[in-house]
Amino acid sequence: DDVARVDALIARMTVEEKAGQMSCFADSFRPFNQPNPQVGIQDERRLAAEIRKGHVGCLFNGIGVEGARRAQDIAVKETRMGIPILFAGDVIHGLRTIFPVPLAEAASFDPSLAEKTARAAAEEATAAGLHLTFAPMVDVARDQRWGRVVEGSGEDVYLGQLFAAARVRGFQGRNLRRDDSLLACAKHFLAYGAVAAGLEYGNVDISDESLRETHLPPFTASIDAGVMSVMAAFNEINGVPATADGTLLTDMLRTEMGFRGFVFSDYTADEELVAHGYAADDREATRLAVLAGVDMSMQSGLYIRYLPELVQSGAVPVETLDVAVRRILYVKTAIGLLENPYRSLDPKAAAARIGTSDKRALAREAAARSIVLLQNDGILPLARDGASRIALIGPFAEDKDNLLGPWAFYGDKEQVVDIASGIRAALADPSRLSIARGCEVETILPDGVAKAVEAAKAADVVILTLGEGQDMSGEAQSRTTIEIPPVQQALADAIAATGKPTIVLLRHGRALALHDTVANASAILATWFLGSETGNGIADVLFGAVNPSAKLPVSFPWESGQEPFFYDRKSTGRPMVSGGNAEYKARFRTTDNSARFPFGHGLSYAQMTLSDLKLSDTALRWDGAIEVRARLTNEGSVTGSEVVQLYIRDKVASRTRPIRELKGVRRYTLAPGESAEVRFSLSRKNLEFVGRGSKTIAEPGDFDVWLGQSSANGLHGTFTLYAAEQKRG
Ligand code: IFM
Repeated sequence: DDVARVDALIARMTVEEKAGQMSCFADSFRPFNQPNPQVGIQDERRLAAEIRKGHVGCLFNGIGVEGARRAQDIAVKETRMGIPILFAGDVIHGLRTIFPVPLAEAASFDPSLAEKTARAAAEEATAAGLHLTFAPMVDVARDQRWGRVVEGSGEDVYLGQLFAAARVRGFQGRNLRRDDSLLACAKHFLAYGAVAAGLEYGNVDISDESLRETHLPPFTASIDAGVMSVMAAFNEINGVPATADGTLLTDMLRTEMGFRGFVFSDYTADEELVAHGYAADDREATRLAVLAGVDMSMQSGLYIRYLPELVQSGAVPVETLDVAVRRILYVKTAIGLLENPYRSLDPKAAAARIGTSDKRALAREAAARSIVLLQNDGILPLARDGASRIALIGPFAEDKDNLLGPWAFYGDKEQVVDIASGIRAALADPSRLSIARGCEVETILPDGVAKAVEAAKAADVVILTLGEGQDMSGEAQSRTTIEIPPVQQALADAIAATGKPTIVLLRHGRALALHDTVANASAILATWFLGSETGNGIADVLFGAVNPSAKLPVSFPWESGQEPFFYDRKSTGRPMVSGGNAEYKARFRTTDNSARFPFGHGLSYAQMTLSDLKLSDTALRWDGAIEVRARLTNEGSVTGSEVVQLYIRDKVASRTRPIRELKGVRRYTLAPGESAEVRFSLSRKNLEFVGRGSKTIAEPGDFDVWLGQSSANGLHGTFTLYAAEQKRG
């Protein structure tokens, strides 16, 4: 069987071959592109020689079957052990067909959508010769200045768990042995989303309780969903870099959480232990990383260079290598790679699976369902066959460079539907549309603003595209403010001064802090980076073919300086009550500490109203459950969907609790005039938290509960959790 087979292989391997299995390099057999050209074995011949020596267990970030087969031939036919290479890549939101960035999809509040797009991405990636993707990123993003907010599911731990599990299921599919199953990698373990000030690669100082309560659960959800690999984070936590932290990578991940796959380092992160000031030199860095539990070293080559000698000198027991190699071979066996090294290397698969029309259709659906209607005075939806003249203004109007989003380096930007094309295709009379760029993303365009103002004046409605370029978020793209770049703000001010009704389309990989001239627009849509079908998805929402139903997975604060800002924050001893006395209260001089657009907010063209909150009981017995119900009615004139959100607050606890915590989401679609009973069940499990001493507990006492349409509204009720032996009060 598989275990015996793996053990037999390990018994025959030299220490050098074991170190090779534990090493991963950027792929120069498939020079489709070189995302990280500064490091690595750039030359195919050199890499071939390394493979022949048994030094390569995994190659990453090349695509294409032909080159992969060449590399695999060498591994299988020309090495002593004949162990096939695992091919990995950063397929974060699609390979050729690019779906909305993960943050955008999280706005759908519908994990099944992310599961579908992950499945489609897996079908394409495996047809291009990949076995594993470095996704999903399941870090809970607590500071919007951080660039990598765009790659995750936002600020909330509950939503993060739902999307983590869905994406793992989507990538890996039901049967790992199928050639379209793409292994997932939950990253970055742990607390990368808590780096101080959102500074990339930064440091985290956090209590064990908060670490477990906020940052761990999406990893638990990924493991429960069967994720086969995990990537250690670049950051340090409480003074120990994650890459060298055995408490994290072994005690927590293995012993406590039961993870059985293998752990990657991040890119050269083992080598970086020296710069962290945690290892004296590369040799020491290697020892620390391998002993902590990093099974596969990414790109540094340190394992090959130092492990043989470290084992020889007794500094690292050979059994540590055996454990790591066993985990790696367990994963290779699980996908059937040992029997079939050419799995997912079928030259005919690409034509059948990559860029097909069903995937484009899914990308369009996902784009429209990721768009959040932040504000609407009734101007939207626009009429397709109306007579109004529309001026499309701003740097993203006809742009194809900033639509796919970060981590889309296999996408073809020429195949992207830009905003202007999407709108033109939707209009019965495309001549109604005029275009003015106004400015570049971060620089002025000579006469740009003047021409844009002219176009606005000549139109009846302005659609203003504003926001971040695609290289303003993603890895190493931390920002000090989360505002719209100043040149675009100046353009927005000039357009606002024309007084024309304006619809703002925001482009962004994080929450933004909007100035009033933008925030006062007639309508605002959060349109993120939507991928290949951007223009069509936007047009579907603008003209009402799709009724928006997405919700913000990140809070939009009033000002950048409120960051780190998230809805599930704690109270203080002097909370600022809205409308109350502001003196000596927990507020900023220029704003109270609320959101302009809160987490969970998102409007619809329908008019969805919640009423009649009822709790089946106000007493929740220790082992019992209560139902929380309400009526949702569509009082509008079009069919729409609403995501009803269940929040709680534990009023008094031995470790203080957030002012609200999301505990459930449910989507309802209603025709005009229709209503439905909304139902959630609550049991003690939903009320648990990480108490002092890091124990998961629930405490008897009083709770608030809300059924809402965002984290800042809702119908309110209360109930009491009673201890097993306690009598009802
Ligand atoms: O997968 C990524 C990771 O998220 C950040 N550093 C580089 C890796 C491989 O490209």
